[in-house]
Amino acid sequence: MLDHKSQAITEDEAALYDRQIRLWGLDAQKRLRASSVLVCGLCGLGAEVTKNLVLAGVKSITLMDHQNVTELDVVANFLAPSDSVGSNIAEASVVRAQNLNPMVQVTALTEDLATQPDTFFSTFDVVVITRCSDKDLLIKINDVCRSNNSLFYAGGVHGLFGYMFADLNQHNYIEEQKETTEVEVNGEKQKVEGVKMNKKSESFVSLSAGLEVDWTNNKYASRLKRISSGYFIMQVLLEFYALHKRMPAPSSREADRFELLTVKHALLTKMEVPQEKLNDQFADLVFGQVSPVCAIVGGEVAAEVIKAVSKKDLPHNNFFFFSTLEDGAGVVQCIGA
Ligand SMILES: *[C@@H]1O[C@H](CO)[C@@H](O)[C@H](O)[C@H]1NC(C)=O
Ligand SMILES: *[C@@H]1O[C@H](CO)[C@@H](O)[C@H](O)[C@H]1NC(C)=O
Repeated sequence: MLDHKSQAITEDEAALYDRQIRLWGLDAQKRLRASSVLVCGLCGLGAEVTKNLVLAGVKSITLMDHQNVTELDVVANFLAPSDSVGSNIAEASVVRAQNLNPMVQVTALTEDLATQPDTFFSTFDVVVITRCSDKDLLIKINDVCRSNNSLFYAGGVHGLFGYMFADLNQHNYIEEQKETTEVEVNGEKQKVEGVKMNKKSESFVSLSAGLEVDWTNNKYASRLKRISSGYFIMQVLLEFYALHKRMPAPSSREADRFELLTVKHALLTKMEVPQEKLNDQFADLVFGQVSPVCAIVGGEVAAEVIKAVSKKDLPHNNFFFFSTLEDGAGVVQCIGA
């Protein structure tokens, strides 16, 4: 697992990863290339995460998806060639992913995420789940990852909206701090610039804690104003999936838009959150997969995985939301702690 970082970096690796090694250090690169990653869900977001982690040089990446490539997929997932429509999307994405970096083991699994035994997840250092909006399944897998110390990420891109959730359980990391010390050289005082390594630790909460917040509780009621409406878009989408076993689709746009507003009304009422917290316009924005949003959220997820695996710097704790609705950008918020 993560701590097998003993082997030396080869000359080929040194040449290939030269810029990164200068950017984040040799130890970080060693940890990265000792880590095995599962990317489940080869939608546009899954493809972005895969591309970035393969280029960064993890040890292995397993692409898992039981679905076949559709005409819409080849637009969003640039790893699946256009002539692969109808074949399994994880298998269809392997060749292009592998071509990005021959030093990473890239494999495909065609099984359904929902049918995997708990022991399956403990074989990975990092589990990234995209294209899954089954809240109960996500919570179950997150709990397995927590008890097995696998880093857990879940994310989704729905139209112009995207989110990420991260659970690193209890995460130890190193923070570098510049420091100046005075030394005496031949009787003269000189300033020496150095770097101090501070050991730090950060606690993360489970996905169920992140989703089941009591908004009437004083602590959260007073924070509500500053909470991104993206959090509630995510909640509405998860609820829509729980009710319909599918996400809103461009082919049933009008009916789904109406249903999203119905779900929003019921959900915010149940949470005792004012309806104004989420502008109804959101229901127009969550259809399909918009490639630039996949690139933004996928870049974020991959950067967070690299940060966490290399144990350098404080990772985002615990949600990231990208929405064009009010923020017009990405925000990181810690919710559920
Ligand atoms: C994918 O396509 C194969 C071959 O056409 C078919 O047997 C299989 O049922 C399809 N899988 C799904 C999940 O639709
Ligand atoms: C993984 O977690 C399960 C409980 O969810 C536990 O029974 C098992 O021993 C753990 N495996 C490892 C390798 O830690």
